[in-house]
Amino acid sequence: MTAVDLGIPRVPGAHTRPSAPRPDTPALIDTFGRVATDLRVSLTDKCNLRCSYCMPAEGLDWMPGEQLLTDDELVRLMHIAVSMLGVTDIRLTGGEPLLRPRLEHLAARITALKPRPRLSMTTNGIGFAKRAKAFADAGLDRINISLDTINRATFERIARRDRLPHVLNALAAAREAGLDPVKINAVLLRGINEHEAPALLRFALAGGYHLRFIEQMPLDAQHGWNRSEMVTAEEIQDLLGTEFTLTPSPAKRGGAPAERWLVDGGPQEVGIIPSVTRPFCAACERTRLTADGAIRSCLFSTEETDLRALLRGGVSDEDIADTWRATMWGKLAGHEINEAGFAQPIRPMSAIGG
Ligand code: 5AD
Ligand code: SF4
Repeated sequence: MTAVDLGIPRVPGAHTRPSAPRPDTPALIDTFGRVATDLRVSLTDKCNLRCSYCMPAEGLDWMPGEQLLTDDELVRLMHIAVSMLGVTDIRLTGGEPLLRPRLEHLAARITALKPRPRLSMTTNGIGFAKRAKAFADAGLDRINISLDTINRATFERIARRDRLPHVLNALAAAREAGLDPVKINAVLLRGINEHEAPALLRFALAGGYHLRFIEQMPLDAQHGWNRSEMVTAEEIQDLLGTEFTLTPSPAKRGGAPAERWLVDGGPQEVGIIPSVTRPFCAACERTRLTADGAIRSCLFSTEETDLRALLRGGVSDEDIADTWRATMWGKLAGHEINEAGFAQPIRPMSAIGG
């Protein structure tokens, strides 16, 4: 993190933002000195899977089409982000981003921006295999594919769709198209796939994929998250420890959320993202744009700022940039999942973006 020293005392664990005047700097700084350089763009809230920790079986009331930002609106905002606000990395997310029509074309427009941002995508991989080459040609640099199990029955149980072969093909195609690294995101659910963690790691090591386990967060649409059901980072270490020896990786973590472990002495690694039990909010470098044009300073924000009305109301790039800066200035110290009064945000993960 390129922290800016604002001369403001840092208040770890502060829940309300200090009322400090914002210094005159173009970057997306906040009152705790963090600088957001990593933009997560959700392209749709729809998905073709129904992972039980994310959505109910019947799906959700999807956003109406006219509320979604158009490609031109998205490109304008990303142009503002990279040329005026110091954003260096853009990640496409969803729901499921591949459901957005002509996404390869949007990707090519993003990588044509100056200065060119690094472009990545978080996807469930369905339908990616035959598009991998087109995405690589469009300049996509990296990809994260969600995969919680390599057991077909367990996959269907979690995602409520029998699609494991599609995801495995997506992983192989991503690697063959030269995307590097190809990461796997996995969520473990107690009594469902936790015992499969070592098998997933064996699969990832054999395929050259970078596996990261993510602690389950209270962001599901059905509000079914329960702390005692969550498989903690510590438990994940223990589960993997039954087959592998994990030692801390010497690699620098920076703003990245994953704690990295060398597997059996390295060089291969596994990541564990302890979002709940060891939050990394103090090093957060993220700013988020939802598919309907809202800026969020955090996954867990209870407030957000609508840019769509500004865009459609004909305001200048400078005004949009200022509104974005003001939103990020108001970023809170961190999520409060571990506090007594924690309230889940109204938007579920699928409408914010991972
Ligand atoms: N907690 C943690 N990870 C989640 N994901 C979706 N919902 C949650 C949750 N509640 C993961 C998906 C995907 C990425 C976008 O986030 O599995 O890998
Ligand atoms: Fe879709 Fe991802 Fe939610 Fe699963 S976790 S239902 S793949 S958005």
